[in-house]
Amino acid sequence: MDTQVGIVGAGPAGLLLAHLLGREGIDCVVLEARSREYVEHRVRAGVLEQGTVDVLTETGVADRLHREGMVHRGIQLRFGGEGHRIALSDLAGGRAITVYGQQEVVKDLIAARLDAGGPLEFEAGATEIDPDGGVIRYGDGSDELRCTIVAGCDGFHGVARAAVPADALTVYEREYPFAWLGILARAAPSSEELIYTHHERGFALHSMRSPEVTRNYLQVAPGEDIEAWPDERIWEELQTRMALADGSFALNEGEVFEKGIAPMRSFVAEPMRHGRLVLAGDAAHIVPATGAKGLNLAVADVRVLARALAACFAHGDESGLGTYSERCLRRVWRVQHFSWWMTAMMHRLTGDPFEARLQQSQLDYVVRSRAAATTLAENYVGLELEDV
Ligand code: FAD
Ligand code: PHB
Repeated sequence: MDTQVGIVGAGPAGLLLAHLLGREGIDCVVLEARSREYVEHRVRAGVLEQGTVDVLTETGVADRLHREGMVHRGIQLRFGGEGHRIALSDLAGGRAITVYGQQEVVKDLIAARLDAGGPLEFEAGATEIDPDGGVIRYGDGSDELRCTIVAGCDGFHGVARAAVPADALTVYEREYPFAWLGILARAAPSSEELIYTHHERGFALHSMRSPEVTRNYLQVAPGEDIEAWPDERIWEELQTRMALADGSFALNEGEVFEKGIAPMRSFVAEPMRHGRLVLAGDAAHIVPATGAKGLNLAVADVRVLARALAACFAHGDESGLGTYSERCLRRVWRVQHFSWWMTAMMHRLTGDPFEARLQQSQLDYVVRSRAAATTLAENYVGLELEDV
């Protein structure tokens, strides 16, 4: 064998797996299709669960996260022109979320990997994986890596999932009839906490990256052309959807320096292991972004996988690897349900008035009932690995 674990993809899943395995003295090679510059600047998630922060802290890659990340103990749900705070930490045993860009996590993990001298190859995309033989072909197709285990951490559009024979994989999928238009702008946050807004014109979200940078999202049609959204139109729509009835809220505006449209999708492929190939993160599952869970779910998979591989390589104990898929899928489905529920509650759906009244009732209940708010809070900050 060339290496014990061949990791395909240097997103959060692949990089964290390499970091955790490196600490256990397990030999691994990371192959990434894109350049370092590209992966370090790909703008995506921003909300880290308590458990995600804990694992990065415990394994020594969270110094900058603790300096620059913003700890939030609540979020606001806004609907009918009024804001309602969900006191996450009070409701969820003191747990909190940290707002810190995914690409910052990726930068920190790349730096840790390179400092440790571990192999990490950019612009070395896998072209073919043999899940039974544990072989990865990459680059121009003539390079080959032979591994005891192949970890497919190559995201939703990667090659790893496709390497599993179709009859060995069951896929569950739902596409939503909307997408998110996201921007990054040089503007101070207009609120200390994230604001999730339900409005008859569609969902809007106010988030942030730092005291100088805000991240905002708008629900748009799925096939929407970004060219149809000049900055003025985006700001106007955000202001309209996020307005409070008493006129007391105005969103700070500033130069838009990043703009993109992301589809909303729920997806699960089961099982998450086939032969020598294991899948982790977006390669195995996608959640709509409303619950802020995709990155955190990738981290949860990798924590389970690293433990299983450590037992396997240290004492030949394959039991963890045997239960890896089942163990992860319990959490995956909990998170799928939560993300679907938040999505259905917050977005403009079909416009059917019956549906709209149900949605209104659900929102009212969540902000009035401590039990309902607690359900939201404990899922949002993230359930403990042991509790799922
Ligand atoms: P990825 O980050 O997709 O990484 C996969 C890597 O594999 C990439 O670097 C890719 O280039 C590489 N790759 C692909 N094919 C190959 C190949 N053939 N060979 C080698 N390498 C390959 N999640 C949250 O938790 N909180 C949020 O607030 C949140 N917000 C989001 C907002 C947006 C707009 C989007 C799009 C996503 C959001 N997510 C959020 C989801 C989150 O970004 C993903 O779940 C996360 O990136 C998953 O990490 P991953 O490592 O599994 O996959
Ligand atoms: C983000 O800050 O990018 C973000 C926050 C909350 C979400 C999704 C994305 O639910």
